[in-house]
Amino acid sequence: MTDVIATYYFRPREGVTPEWAAQAIAEEQTTGTWTDISTRQNYVHYLDGVVDEIHPSGGGYTCTIRYPSEIFEPGNIPQYLSVLAGNLFGLSRIAAVRLVDVEFSRDIVPFKGPKFGIEGVRKLAGTVDRPHVGTIIKPKVGLNPKDTAAVAYEAAIGGVDLIKDDETLTDQAFCPLGERLPLIMEQLDRVKSETGRNVLYAVNISSAGDKIVQRAREAARMGANMLMIDVIVCGFDAVRAVAEEPGINLPIHVHRTMHAAITRNPEHGIAMRPICRLVRMLGGDQLHTGTVSGKMEHDVTELRGDNLALTEPFFDLKPTFPVASGGLHPGGVHKEVSMLGRDIILQAGGGIHGHPDGTRVGATAMRQAVDAAVAGISPATYAEDHPELKRALDKWGIA
Ligand code: 6PG
Ligand code: MG
Repeated sequence: MTDVIATYYFRPREGVTPEWAAQAIAEEQTTGTWTDISTRQNYVHYLDGVVDEIHPSGGGYTCTIRYPSEIFEPGNIPQYLSVLAGNLFGLSRIAAVRLVDVEFSRDIVPFKGPKFGIEGVRKLAGTVDRPHVGTIIKPKVGLNPKDTAAVAYEAAIGGVDLIKDDETLTDQAFCPLGERLPLIMEQLDRVKSETGRNVLYAVNISSAGDKIVQRAREAARMGANMLMIDVIVCGFDAVRAVAEEPGINLPIHVHRTMHAAITRNPEHGIAMRPICRLVRMLGGDQLHTGTVSGKMEHDVTELRGDNLALTEPFFDLKPTFPVASGGLHPGGVHKEVSMLGRDIILQAGGGIHGHPDGTRVGATAMRQAVDAAVAGISPATYAEDHPELKRALDKWGIA
């Protein structure tokens, strides 16, 4: 048995010492309470959280706390989160606390991780080492199943490797999942017979806790080749429940809608890093972590570290494919690839469907931008003899 080590940033309120604050976190999350108690038997001490190190950092401090692994119920993710990221955020004598990272011990990672991982997804898509290009069908919602499938065909024939639902599209009456999925798969089969390329479609099965596994099974039965889960709103365990369901052998694309309510404040909340580790251990094959040139708030150093958490050795679990999405367009691709590397999925919604010549040409322009980046050629030079890319750069510029 080894300990689980959590790193927290915190800023105590005035008059509170950092030692007191770190100890308060360790006690709140394990065996303690705010006053002396008569029920505290000596034998419970082996479950105490132990404060290891406290360093000044930013406007506050960073500490590591060691939690004995016996305090965790193996496999019970809600319980892990109650220990690592529970009441501590509300302690009134601490102005701000952020869970920055967690080092899990093997005995509480009884999970199999991604079934496919980067290599498995590459094998399905038939790529070796270039970044993948994905698109989100746009508009976000509103298209009927037939028009959604038509957009999917255009994007796929134009060159994307992956198509996905937007996070707010699930099974609404204007575009029922049971109608759009077969229609989209039919179009992707058409693309396969015309080009030999296998394009993936991540259908969003996000739904209530007692429905998601059933929805995953139905999607698999209807011919889905990838599933998508909105992990924060569904709950982390939704990923595990679907990944471990016998008979479902599909990669899982994990979206993080709502994450910024938790991750964005640099002083308070939960950083993306622990979320990456959880999603990977629970079986997410792809996870959104952010872009360096897009529309969402980001910190490049944190982002690179987050992607590393998805890909570095982690027991015997496969790596999770990082996804960069939100405001991307062909003019930003070289920046993404130079900062984030080739094991990345670059997704563009508006940056494909907003191309002056439409979705198909927009998809081709994104692929050209990727080819240029991989060949080490600047987008402007590459665009000289690639008119699709040229038109995109003329509209959106180069990041
Ligand atoms: C997604 C995206 C996302 C983002 C836009 C992307 O996969 O759904 O990460 O949530 O905000 O939907 O589309 P744009 O490329 O048009 O920003
Ligand atoms: Mg979206």
